[in-house]
Amino acid sequence: PAAHHADLVVFGGTGDLSMRKLLPALFHSDRDGRLDPRTRIIALSRGGLTDADFRGKVESAVRPGLHTGDAASWDRFLGRLRHVSVDVGAPGQDGWGDLTRLLGGYEDVDRIFYLASPPMTFGPFCRAAHAAGLVTPRSRVVLEKPLGRDLEGAQRINEEVGAIFAEHQIFRIDHYLGKETVQNLLVLRFANAFLEPIWNSLWIDHVQITAAESVGTPGRRGYYDHAGALRDMVQNHLLQLLCLVAMEPPARNDREAVRDEKVKVLQALRPIAGTEARRFTVRGQYTAGQVDGEAVPGYLDEPDKTPPTDASRHVETFTAVRAEVKNWRWAGVPFYLRTGKRLPFHRSEIVVQFKEVPHSIFPGGGPNRLVLRLQPSEGITLHILAKEPGAGEVTPRAVPLSLSFADTFRTRVPEAYERLLMDVLSGNPTLFMRRDEVEAAWRWIDPIIATWEADGAVPGPYTAGTTGPAAAHELLGRSGRAWHEEDLP
Ligand code: BG6
Repeated sequence: PAAHHADLVVFGGTGDLSMRKLLPALFHSDRDGRLDPRTRIIALSRGGLTDADFRGKVESAVRPGLHTGDAASWDRFLGRLRHVSVDVGAPGQDGWGDLTRLLGGYEDVDRIFYLASPPMTFGPFCRAAHAAGLVTPRSRVVLEKPLGRDLEGAQRINEEVGAIFAEHQIFRIDHYLGKETVQNLLVLRFANAFLEPIWNSLWIDHVQITAAESVGTPGRRGYYDHAGALRDMVQNHLLQLLCLVAMEPPARNDREAVRDEKVKVLQALRPIAGTEARRFTVRGQYTAGQVDGEAVPGYLDEPDKTPPTDASRHVETFTAVRAEVKNWRWAGVPFYLRTGKRLPFHRSEIVVQFKEVPHSIFPGGGPNRLVLRLQPSEGITLHILAKEPGAGEVTPRAVPLSLSFADTFRTRVPEAYERLLMDVLSGNPTLFMRRDEVEAAWRWIDPIIATWEADGAVPGPYTAGTTGPAAAHELLGRSGRAWHEEDLP
């Protein structure tokens, strides 16, 4: 569906997310002719910028990084940009009047409030916008993660935002759901006949979901000390991927049917608390090391405007969890999740490992693996066993049957934010998280964190540039399994 004529109001519009992700995504959509010609992009910040200042900032900070677009498409895009200075703490302030004037006369177009700001501002922003009379029946609000830092916080935000916007107007973003491979997972599972009959505990040995990053957290201490890898990545991105792998076939590809099935998976997760949290979870924090041949500091020595505190010593930059979905399809199949900063590679993937043949007539062999690569180089690889050519003994060898989206479809694979922003602009919330999903995810995460906090242990150290603490390998090793590390540099 086409993007509607909209006013897109971005709170935190000059911030990092806006400059790095949102504006580039909007530019690409505009260049490809997918934005309504009348759509305006209105950045809100406390910065006191004029429209011209803001356009200048986008020209100098965003344009060079994109290496694309001719002068006409940049002129058109820059022409859409406005800036208004507002402070959520001061609803009566002039800026709100400026915003009201700018939006006046556009009540019948879709009005989108994108909150690219910390979660504690979500409630106050919605109230201020409502008090200024800006929330129309055609308004929607987009909330960036993290939605709180525990179930109670998430519920409070949901209540506050829900007091102003109806659930169908609330778009909770998880950018992993906009990644091409993630959407392809649904097509792979539900548009192909051959997979579904074997997509269960009879045929699948276990599933691994990895989101490994080689970057560290320089300059993010303020946020990261209070989040940590479990809240930052597992509560949202990794659990969403788990849901898509594990969910039952929805009856329709629509907003409620898909999200109903995902929430059932979250509700079926075996709770992990106390002894089980100690057995089935691993925490790590990176120390100084080398990544891509370059020396990098440890977490506590990352450059930042605030010095490390006790919270910094206790926060995990790596976590691995052995999860289980307690239902008929998945009983007994471990889902291993892991994510970390300063690992040797930047790679996100889902590995579905099948059971071995019940009886092998050849020497050697091994299990089939289906690898869904989210990044880099999105694609799908099935590792099948094939005979090594030659006249000697027949020995099976695992060889990849690969599909690269970029090579096969010969088209640019859009960034996650591009897809999701287009969905916001056309009013399609299927790839956004519903309130009950977010809360169910926190309900599972909270007891893990409570156990960690009660134990008060510091995370196990791992050297930057390695694949995490030894305990992460033992988590699989003790049942004779191993992480898929095929292309470790
Ligand atoms: C964000 C996290 O949600 O996802 C970051 O807050 C992380 O810590 C990022 O770096 C990873 O996203 P991607 O798309 O690069 O895998």
